[in-house]
Amino acid sequence: MQIRCTINSRPYRFECEPEERLLDVVRRLGMLSVKKGCGEGECGTCSLFFNGKLVNSCLLLAPQMQGAEIVTLEGLQKETETIRENFAKEGAVQCGFCTPGFVMRAYDYIIHEGSKDEKRVKEALDGNICRCTGYQKIVEAIVKSMS
Ligand code: FES
Ligand code: FES
Repeated sequence: MQIRCTINSRPYRFECEPEERLLDVVRRLGMLSVKKGCGEGECGTCSLFFNGKLVNSCLLLAPQMQGAEIVTLEGLQKETETIRENFAKEGAVQCGFCTPGFVMRAYDYIIHEGSKDEKRVKEALDGNICRCTGYQKIVEAIVKSMS
C-alpha cells in the first residue's frame, strides 16, 4: 500500500506492507535514532512523536502513518541540544542504545510538565528501560536541563 505522511517536516511517499510496524518503516526510511528494543511497548527505545503525542512506534502499524505528522529525534536536534549535552556531562550515557528514547521522553516531560521534582521525573521515565547506567544519572541530567 502507498503511504503519504510527514516525517521531521518533510513530505514522504512510500510503499509498505499493511502488517509492517511504524518502527520498522521509519528505520527503513533512515531515521535510525528510533531503536528496536523489546518490540512490545516495554522499553521506550522506539519513541517518536506521532501527531504531537509521544508513542512507542513498535505498537503502531504502517497504515496508521497515512496523513500523520511524525517527528523523530533527528528532527529535534536543536530543541534537544541541552538535554543531550547534559546526558553526556552527567554520565547518563554508556552504550547509548536507550539514549534517544530517554531524550525524547525528557523533551516531552520538559515541554509538558517541567517539574524539577526528582520523584516526578522518575515517574515520567517509567516506560523507558536502561540496562547500563541506572536511572539516577539520567534523572540528574534531565533536572539539570531545566535549570
Ligand atoms: S521497541 Fe518499542 S517499546 Fe521497546
Ligand atoms: S546506556 Fe546502555 S541501555 Fe542505557
